[in-house]
Amino acid sequence: MSAVSDVSMELLMNSENPEDMLEHMQSFLDMMMNYECALMEIETKLKVLNSEFALQHNRNPFESIKSRLKKPISIIEKLRKKGLDFTIENIENNLTDIAGVRVICSFPEDIYAVSDLLAMQDDITVVETKDYIRNPKSNGYRSLHLIVEIPIFLTTGKKYMKVEVQFRTIAMDFWASLDHKLKYKKDNLKHPEIIVQELKKCADTITSVDYKMQEIRNMLE
Ligand code: GTP
Ligand code: MG
Repeated sequence: MSAVSDVSMELLMNSENPEDMLEHMQSFLDMMMNYECALMEIETKLKVLNSEFALQHNRNPFESIKSRLKKPISIIEKLRKKGLDFTIENIENNLTDIAGVRVICSFPEDIYAVSDLLAMQDDITVVETKDYIRNPKSNGYRSLHLIVEIPIFLTTGKKYMKVEVQFRTIAMDFWASLDHKLKYKKDNLKHPEIIVQELKKCADTITSVDYKMQEIRNMLE
């Protein structure tokens, strides 16, 4: 409820009259519903892959899948940072992470196996790939990010929606959640550089554990 009221406040201030505001609100909610449908489509595709992979290999490649829609207030802030007005067109053309899916795998190999299978599907177009596993960020962040475009079928016809899919191992996810805390606490720390350094060391340790575990798994299979 508070998310929606954030938006209505923004629209209220930008609108000339209440009818305009209502119309804007409705098209925003419609757009968010479209992104939600796209999330459901991607989630279903991933679950199908998971089940099939489990049958073939006798294990699940995913530990978990989490989906989220970007909060309206974060959409407003991101557009503002880019110097763009809060319009449906600007959101659809400039923001690629309104709909986000995070796939947590046990082993790095499974990330590539599953992401390739998803990317290969003929109704999916990969718009962008950022491979922070092969090319980690300088802070130690590792994950594979895909921006994919997927059609959803509405009463008005077919519409292509973008979804950001992040693949990481359990260990990478554990690391990223601690790193995320640092982002918000950094300004209040006396020596943030020490924490940055320690986190980078953890990222390297985690990577070697991820690959060691994978090696052991492969020996067991
Ligand atoms: P954003 O404006 O954050 O979306 O960055 P971007 O558009 O350049 O995309 P990028 O693919 O680099 O990052 C997208 C998302 O990945 C972020 O919103 C985070 O969820 C995650 N991410 C990227 N870098 C880091 C990082 O250094 N630490 C953590 N914890 N998460 C990160
Ligand atoms: Mg992004």
